[in-house]
Amino acid sequence: MPQTPQPLPPFPAKPQPLPDFPGYTTLDKEVRIDRLPVEGTLPEWLSGTLIRNGPAKFEVGDYRLTHWFNGIGMLHAYSFGEGQVSYANKYPRTTAYDLAVNKGQLYGKQFGIDPCEELFGRHFAAYSPNISDNTNVNLTRLANRFFAFNEQPLNMEFDPRTLDTVGELTFEDQIVGELSTPHPHFDFERRAMLNYTTAMRDKTVYHVHYTPEDTLRQTRLATIETGEDPRYMHSFAVTENYVVLVEIPVVIDRERFLEPGNPFVECFSWQPERGTRFLVVDKREGRVVRTFEGPAFFAFHHINAAEVGSDLLIDIAVTETPYESVLGLAPSEDQFDLQAYGYAARRFALSLSGASNTARTVDLADAGVEMPRINYRAHNGKPYRYAYGLGHSLRSLRAMNRLLKLDVVAGTHKAWHEKGSFPSEAVFVARPGATEEDDGVVLSGVLDAKSGTSFLLVLDAASFEELGRARVPHHIPNDFHGVFFNDLPRLGG
Ligand code: CO
Repeated sequence: MPQTPQPLPPFPAKPQPLPDFPGYTTLDKEVRIDRLPVEGTLPEWLSGTLIRNGPAKFEVGDYRLTHWFNGIGMLHAYSFGEGQVSYANKYPRTTAYDLAVNKGQLYGKQFGIDPCEELFGRHFAAYSPNISDNTNVNLTRLANRFFAFNEQPLNMEFDPRTLDTVGELTFEDQIVGELSTPHPHFDFERRAMLNYTTAMRDKTVYHVHYTPEDTLRQTRLATIETGEDPRYMHSFAVTENYVVLVEIPVVIDRERFLEPGNPFVECFSWQPERGTRFLVVDKREGRVVRTFEGPAFFAFHHINAAEVGSDLLIDIAVTETPYESVLGLAPSEDQFDLQAYGYAARRFALSLSGASNTARTVDLADAGVEMPRINYRAHNGKPYRYAYGLGHSLRSLRAMNRLLKLDVVAGTHKAWHEKGSFPSEAVFVARPGATEEDDGVVLSGVLDAKSGTSFLLVLDAASFEELGRARVPHHIPNDFHGVFFNDLPRLGG
């Protein structure tokens, strides 16, 4: 079907510098601390290292960035053992870091607004590659190599014990494309990482691929041509038999995207009349076996998915807020009122045996979450009961300010909240030998805006009550995602 050119929305209207708030304040200090002061009691069994990734530098030269996602990425490691916590943080020494620090320039494609365009005009694009090594979103491990990434197919390897940068890591048979997701899945049956890459040079192709856990070799699983412009999909769903790509109506203008310098958001248009399309890929057949339609919504993150009877259940952290507000993350007071974002934990049920191609929807709980996490090892792609994430109270004008635990069976939630504090993503860690889904802890880095410092909070996952906290001597800017490695021992211990 030929594409009718759609006008881009009036976005960004007028980029404003990020607000003066600790979550968007640059952290220059790089430290390594063997023992953080601990209040409360951490479980003796809690052993391993949580590594987190996110923007921590918000100036290039003397220019203050206008978009959170453009911040230069930093890695943070919290290591646990014998009731103690050690901490280390470091900027990966990328080209993006080097240029920001030494030349006051942004490097490569940005997600949000391009300040260099304002500063230097189109000149910036002339020497800028169409990919950035500012891998500030997420990280993983494969073949015992640790690497960070953003939304483009570029991986930056680091040493998990020192957080030192090793360099760019290229996969064997790496599938060529312009866009990927920072949320690969792990397929426990196949013992492989699953992800997809969007290629958009001649036509739109979604390449679903897997990489066996002891290799760095990408293998194609399915090649999907949609005949339309690509959509922005920050994550995707996987179950025992299927991979599901959920094409929300954020349509990417391929020509604009392929032109170096254009930030992501300036290549997007919101086309709600197209609705949402669910592409169901059969993992064994390696092709799309069904396509379903659903209402328009915006989402970054899938929560989970499961096959129940002949239904495929796809659970997503959705919002119906005008997507410009969400993607813009623009720093006007009203756009920081995340209450207005109205997140919901929504289930889309796709009937694989029925004739209808329409998704049935239901909200899973009386609260929504963003940055959702689950007991991944035991429940990803399978029926589950609990999701953990960020929520907000009515009065928060700055950021999400509470941790939530959703019970998607009962439809209820529990909350952790402390005045003036802003938690990050809630990472679930199971107690060794646990049989209950929520037998373990939830870890979150919390920014205490009053003192301008952060602490690592440990909640009992079942009761959602605090077990303890470990104080970091500085603030940790709002970050994105992290992974807990239970076989990485305490640093410096
Ligand atoms: Co994400």
